[in-house]
Amino acid sequence: MKIRFVEPGEPTSGTVVAGVWEGKEPTAAARALDEASAGAISRALALPSRFKGKKDEFLPIFGPPDLKAGRILLAGLGTKGAIEARVLRDLGGNLVAELNRAGEKEARFLLGFGEGLPIGEAEAAAELAYGAELRSYRFAKYRTREKPEKKPTLEELKVETAAAAAARRLHQPFAKRAEAVFFARDLISEPGNVIYPESLAREAEKLKDLGVSVDILDESALRRLGMGALLAVGQGSARPPYLVAMEWRGAAAEEAPLAFIGKGVTFDTGGISIKPSAGMEDMKWDMAGAAVTIGLLRLFAARRAKVNAVGVAGLVENMPSGQAQRPGDIVRSFSGQTIEVINTDAEGRLVLADALSYCQDRFKPRLMIDLATLTGAVVVALGHDRAGLFSNDDELASRLLAAGKAVGEEVWRLPLGESYDREIDSEAADVKNIAGGRDAGSIIGAQFLQRFVAGVPWAHLDIAGVAWSKKDAATVPRGATAFGLRLLDRFVAENYEKN
Ligand code: BES
Ligand code: MN
Ligand code: ZN
Repeated sequence: MKIRFVEPGEPTSGTVVAGVWEGKEPTAAARALDEASAGAISRALALPSRFKGKKDEFLPIFGPPDLKAGRILLAGLGTKGAIEARVLRDLGGNLVAELNRAGEKEARFLLGFGEGLPIGEAEAAAELAYGAELRSYRFAKYRTREKPEKKPTLEELKVETAAAAAARRLHQPFAKRAEAVFFARDLISEPGNVIYPESLAREAEKLKDLGVSVDILDESALRRLGMGALLAVGQGSARPPYLVAMEWRGAAAEEAPLAFIGKGVTFDTGGISIKPSAGMEDMKWDMAGAAVTIGLLRLFAARRAKVNAVGVAGLVENMPSGQAQRPGDIVRSFSGQTIEVINTDAEGRLVLADALSYCQDRFKPRLMIDLATLTGAVVVALGHDRAGLFSNDDELASRLLAAGKAVGEEVWRLPLGESYDREIDSEAADVKNIAGGRDAGSIIGAQFLQRFVAGVPWAHLDIAGVAWSKKDAATVPRGATAFGLRLLDRFVAENYEKN
């Protein structure tokens, strides 16, 4: 789908989309269109209808008289004056879905609201286009016999605004964001036979073309460094583990970097503590944290972010085999702490333990944020609308909460505390990877990670419930979401790039 910003002019084909405020009040552009179409809009609005002009409502008008365009689509805008960036993004996304449902090929959205738009028209145009773009994502490369009626029809969306040139300029960074989101969604969607530790490391390596330094540590390097926890997870697989360290330097050399760490379990069978087979295919996206981390560094480079950032991704496949680690094994982590592995399915924390302490040791970051599909328990607690947030730093936590709200990737803070921490003391080693029972599973997971954070502001995002979606949302079609990418990009732009 192509998106273009155009100056006001006569629509000659496709669908013309005009806005209507809640209470059936047409925008200026809709009133002008009403005149040009012999009153088709006012007539439609006068008829009994469920359409009231609320958000996410649409009303199609076919064959409007006096108009070359084939149809008019009225789009509900919600309360007049309350249409901020997020609402416009959602509108763009919902509009794409609506036009594809209708089978339309091209459309023109009229942004000349006249009044009631609290942000600039160029900014509004860019946001609407961004939402439309995000919704148009598809992962269909393996559908070789797809029926034509399943394919999206919309080829071009024009956003009509008197500020077209400015909109085009403002849209540039958004287009880069959408690109990075698509890149991460593609990686997450790929099955485990295509994306495994080595192939994912190769994908990260491609960031070199954008000016990111990429260091790929193979199994022997990991062994030399003493990453016994990460290695233990990988040892059951025929596919060797890797750790990828990416660096983007967009600020002064002496500025300590922000660090992002991703769980990259390219497939999680559970290992010897094997998972039930029903639904196990979902575990191909147990590398979503790593994909988002790689996508984020790619985005920083693509938009030349004025910040120093590092991304570390621990890449392993968790398999049962004669070489796999056993429940009860004790391993030595990079930090020197020994870990008793009670359950081989609590593997993400083992991978992150080494990735976190290695990151801190090597890069001396000013803060660390990890992303991980860590626990099923976070899905029980928060469902699919919010990720779990854990942090040892209140300011960091509130910045993440705010960034999540702004981009529509919301997080909810859960506690850490000493009494939880005691639950993972081990009789045989320094720490064990699960507690005695199933209580507070997500907190226990976070508590384990915290043992590998040494006095640096840190946050952990448990994205197990949000990395993949079973239903379409305004700007996120069902499937891989790349949750966290837009959030962290916003978090960085808002707090660390303004001098
Ligand atoms: N990758 C899973 C967590 C997960 C579950 C992600 C569902 C997405 C959807 C993780 O490695 C895992 O298996 N966690 C265990 C931990 C338990 C053994 C303490 C879990 O949540 O059951
Ligand atoms: Mn697991
Ligand atoms: Zn896992």
